[in-house]
Amino acid sequence: MISFAGGLPAPELFDVDGIRAAYDGVLADSGRKALQYSTTEGDPELRTAIAERLALRELPTDPADLLVTTGSQQALTLLTAALVSPGDVVLVEDPCYLAALQAFAFAGARVVPVPTDDQGILPAALEEIAAREKATLLYVVPTFQNPTGRTLPADRRAAVAEAAARHGFWIVEDDPYGELRYEGERVPWIAAEPAGADRTVLLGSFSKILAPGLRLGWLRAPVGLRRACVIAKQASDLHTSTVDQLAAARYLRDNDLDVHVARIRAAYRERRDAMLAGLSGALPEGSGWNRPEGGMFVWATLPAGHDATTLLKAAVGHGVAYVPGAPFSSGEPDPAAIRLAFTTHSPDEIREGLRRLAKAFA
Ligand SMILES: Cc1ncc(COP(=O)(O)O)c(C=O)c1O
Repeated sequence: MISFAGGLPAPELFDVDGIRAAYDGVLADSGRKALQYSTTEGDPELRTAIAERLALRELPTDPADLLVTTGSQQALTLLTAALVSPGDVVLVEDPCYLAALQAFAFAGARVVPVPTDDQGILPAALEEIAAREKATLLYVVPTFQNPTGRTLPADRRAAVAEAAARHGFWIVEDDPYGELRYEGERVPWIAAEPAGADRTVLLGSFSKILAPGLRLGWLRAPVGLRRACVIAKQASDLHTSTVDQLAAARYLRDNDLDVHVARIRAAYRERRDAMLAGLSGALPEGSGWNRPEGGMFVWATLPAGHDATTLLKAAVGHGVAYVPGAPFSSGEPDPAAIRLAFTTHSPDEIREGLRRLAKAFA
């Protein structure tokens, strides 16, 4: 099976030796500390290292602004616990990251989709919906979004921040993919927009740049909301694994994470290019797809009348898989949309997978 379905990082690119050395070092030098309970906010050295990374990317951050989370998925759970009561309105991009939709639904939120185009949220639509609904928060993945790979341009980021200030909702800016850029210029975070500074929570993660098995993420939030998240985290898991935090801090001290990320980027760029080059031969005539500047996903739309869920059976029968796009939608789902992840196979395997897809669709 060649799977374009999962959203997993490529395991052969994990720095197993570097991470093993970090754990060895931590256990040898400070084993008792590493195996003990710790503070809810997170290890100070790790928070300092994360704050420095954010500051280097033009978002001045104090370590105290950060809460270390058990993956950024936990940050979503904590924010939902802190902010969302049953019946509250949560605005989301349409389509949207599935597990965020699940977290909001689990809390009893009324999820309201905001229409998008190839560049993400449409500011005029957001404005119109925010004027009508008393929203608690907007959840957005502005860079290399899951599932679409889209990136929200700077002017729209400013418009989103201004809408939040005008209408009084929080922005949850989830950015697990931003460092995986293969071309084009970095777009500053919404959290760095003056209008959004006091109402934006930025979520980050080591999952896509180091290893998801570490389960290490963070949130950067204004003090009141951060305190509420700390209390929610105390009730949830007391703190994120001490030994994993210390090992990550040690890894960041002893290695240049940017060098590692550059290696990942080089490999993923080739894989993205192999996928983009092969799509016209694989998808039925009349299909469309985007060209993401980074991240892990291509979003494609089969010609009208095609049902991606039905066709998946044929694809699996030919030894290739993708994810139908409809479940990512909280609005009017497009049955012809598909999400293709390009990170877990080599360019040759991707080409073979696309040949199989062509046969399945034929
Ligand atoms: C948009 C988005 N947010 C959050 C997550 C969860 O990541 P983590 O491993 O940091 O919990 C994912 C994982 O794929 C994701 O795509």
